Amino acid sequence: MRFRIYRYRPEEDQKPVFQDYVLAPEALEGAVMLLDALMLLKAQDATLSFRRSCREGVCGSDAMNINGRNGLACITPLKDLREPITLRPLPGMPVIRDLAVDLSGFYRQYRAVRPWLIDEGPEPEIERPQSPVERDRLDGLYECILCACCTTSCPSFWWNPERFLGPAALLQAYRFITDSRDKALGERLDDLEDPYRLYRCHTIMNCTDVCPKGLDPAHAIGAIRTLLARRRL
Ligand code: SF4
Ligand code: SF4
Ligand code: FES
Repeated sequence: MRFRIYRYRPEEDQKPVFQDYVLAPEALEGAVMLLDALMLLKAQDATLSFRRSCREGVCGSDAMNINGRNGLACITPLKDLREPITLRPLPGMPVIRDLAVDLSGFYRQYRAVRPWLIDEGPEPEIERPQSPVERDRLDGLYECILCACCTTSCPSFWWNPERFLGPAALLQAYRFITDSRDKALGERLDDLEDPYRLYRCHTIMNCTDVCPKGLDPAHAIGAIRTLLARRRL
């Protein structure tokens, strides 16, 4: 199996290059997912850098651009990939080394939506109850693993990474807007009523298309727009 992998080692490379690798069929025995193959390549060439942790599609750390599309290496079957399998770092982010990118800007935008429950009222004695129907409204929102596949496939984010929140952060904004236990709806909508933070989304839909967890950030963004439009009436 043939691979073309983006290499950039800042201490020795003036600019990035692609390096070709080959894994013989016998070496690939038992390898099912792309991450399995990457681990075999890493055993051959210890200088190859990428992140990974859970190998179950849960931690989000092995997000990368696989044959032109963002995804998680650990849940991408090798048999579905055409060769040479071309791997690049997530687009639009500063590259630290090879397939590892600097996600500080991504997390900054995530923090900006205050991804926690806000309720300044008195603390309940036991818990903050939620009906089954209210809880169900969080389905499709809370499962985000912050892999950044969506945000780094969004052209609006590439052009305005400082000012546009990006689909992952906006999905989380909507997750807390929707939560019946949160009491900061007005403030949250005020924060989003901005030509860049929310309205830079041009409904290109790349985000929803690539999400490895099957979530729909574009729908969440549309729902926030609807709430903002309604409160203007
Ligand atoms: S729908 Fe909006 S957030 Fe999603 S990729 Fe398109 S512009 Fe970006
Ligand atoms: S919405 Fe999907 S693609 Fe975006 S960060 Fe969350 S899990 Fe990853
Ligand atoms: S290694 Fe955790 S999501 Fe792939």
